Amino acid sequence: FNRQAFQNQLIEWFMKEQRILPWRENQDPYRVWVSEIMLQQTRVDTVIPYFNNFLEKFPTPEALAEADEQAVLKAWEGLGYYSRARNLQNAVREVVEKYEGQIPDNKAKLSELKGVGPYTKGAILSIAYDQPEPAVDGNVMRVLSRILLVEDDIAKASTKKLFEFLIHDLISYEDPSSFNQGLMELGAIICTPKSPSCLLCPVQSECRAFQEGRESELPIKTSK
Ligand code: ADE
Repeated sequence: FNRQAFQNQLIEWFMKEQRILPWRENQDPYRVWVSEIMLQQTRVDTVIPYFNNFLEKFPTPEALAEADEQAVLKAWEGLGYYSRARNLQNAVREVVEKYEGQIPDNKAKLSELKGVGPYTKGAILSIAYDQPEPAVDGNVMRVLSRILLVEDDIAKASTKKLFEFLIHDLISYEDPSSFNQGLMELGAIICTPKSPSCLLCPVQSECRAFQEGRESELPIKTSK
């Protein structure tokens, strides 16, 4: 496995082929945060209009902090999992009170915020702040289980930990943002759950599952 080749192929492909999505217009940490919360349980196509409307109504952390909870829930209507919206507003209020509206750029402070788990924290640090931190969700576990031929059960919390550990060693220090978003994008458009498009894959040469013809067997997930 050639790590440098893997990083280069993934990042070059992402820069060229990434979908144009509203939260990719800039690296504003507030936009990254809102988008990642929306994307956690909801598909990209569904999120796009909600994200645009939400940012129009609440363009800054201050605007969201000052808004009525009912107005925030109204803007979330249809996305479901409303605790996401309540937690987000509470956490943003804390950011406005404690940090003058500046979203923290370190793990310890982000971890204290309501609704910001390891995934969201890693996404904000890498995408908005260019820090080499893992952001592991189901898509990323699928992609990496194939590339590295990891046969551990992705339903287990310990397997997510394993991937976070592996990514610390794998991530590009030059461009952690494109690296993490490249993994997400690869999972969304090439390395799909069913019949992945391996012949179009930019990292085919570094993929152990492809080399062994086992991509359809991975990831391993016990239904529970
Ligand atoms: N899924 C989770 N995060 C994403 C992002 N930033 N872009 C596209 N899909 C995603």
